[in-house]
Amino acid sequence: MRLDIERVRRAFGRAASGYEAVAVLQHEVETLLLERLEILATPPAQLLSEARARGIEPPFKASPQCILDVGCGTGRAAAALRKRYPKADVLALDMALPMLQLARRRAGWWKPFRTLCADARALPVADQSVDLIYSNLCLQWIEDLPGVFNEFRRVLRPGGWLLFTSFGPDTLSELRQSWAAADEGAHVNVFLDMHDVGDAMLAAGFRDPMLDVERYTLTYRDARQLMRELKAIGAGNAATERPRGLTGKSRLQRMLARYEGFRTAEGLLPASYEVIFAQAQAPESSQPRRDGDGEIASVSVAALRAQLRRRPQ
Ligand SMILES: C[S@@+](CC[C@H](N)C(=O)[O-])C[C@H]1O[C@@H](n2cnc3c(N)ncnc32)[C@H](O)[C@@H]1O
Repeated sequence: MRLDIERVRRAFGRAASGYEAVAVLQHEVETLLLERLEILATPPAQLLSEARARGIEPPFKASPQCILDVGCGTGRAAAALRKRYPKADVLALDMALPMLQLARRRAGWWKPFRTLCADARALPVADQSVDLIYSNLCLQWIEDLPGVFNEFRRVLRPGGWLLFTSFGPDTLSELRQSWAAADEGAHVNVFLDMHDVGDAMLAAGFRDPMLDVERYTLTYRDARQLMRELKAIGAGNAATERPRGLTGKSRLQRMLARYEGFRTAEGLLPASYEVIFAQAQAPESSQPRRDGDGEIASVSVAALRAQLRRRPQ
């Protein structure tokens, strides 16, 4: 599916002022991703020895000096990252200016982090200058994933870390199926599979990608409420082949009727989300882009969380 990036930018710009109130899932995923970073930064002994056995050195022997949050939205995570690493230069980047203006306001007059209005596909950042790229639920809006990973590799120092989340193909499956019963238009974005994401990371030369999937179900009184919420968050239909003009009343009714088939015993309509969690290390600059021997590991986020909780304070 081809995405209209200008439409994506405008939709997030329009959504910015109301974003925080509706971004419940985004907040939950952000918390998990920051927990992952915590584990990466101070790994429990067992994880550390397992990693060393695979030739991976602890990521942050010293604190990261430069952190880039790609698709930072209103800057919540950038603020958390700066709190976690007070000496780091945190760059919060987003292509939607209204989002970035809210991030700048959050940064306050003492400017704990800097803001950059730019496209993730062309980062205005020097080669090998970043220790950590963090990105929460932004990459599913970028069609050219190989291009973005090449760009991430360019700006990361060798051994720097990439940590991100993105949506997988089961995301909004009920809505996609319901529209498919109504017409042949592309109403719901198509999302890449975890293995394709991992392959693209390996192709860009990233080392030891670790990917995992978490599933969430949000519930709604009716499908119109879900559609309103998607719009409010800026996550409308951005496919270039999307149906133009007003969606016919009868097609909409057919879609809504089909969605009713998913109604649960509790009387609610589910919306499924498949969230891909991914991390990998940037290679030495001499490493070729395609690592034919690369292996994609999978580790459950729940297991990582359990490790974190068990760890003595
Ligand atoms: C769903 S929001 C997530 C925001 C934030 N990371 C969070 O967790 O709340 C996705 C953000 O990515 C930004 N975005 C999408 N495509 C982008 C691109 N190509 N370059 C920079 N930002 C992009 C959007 O403007 C939006 O603010």
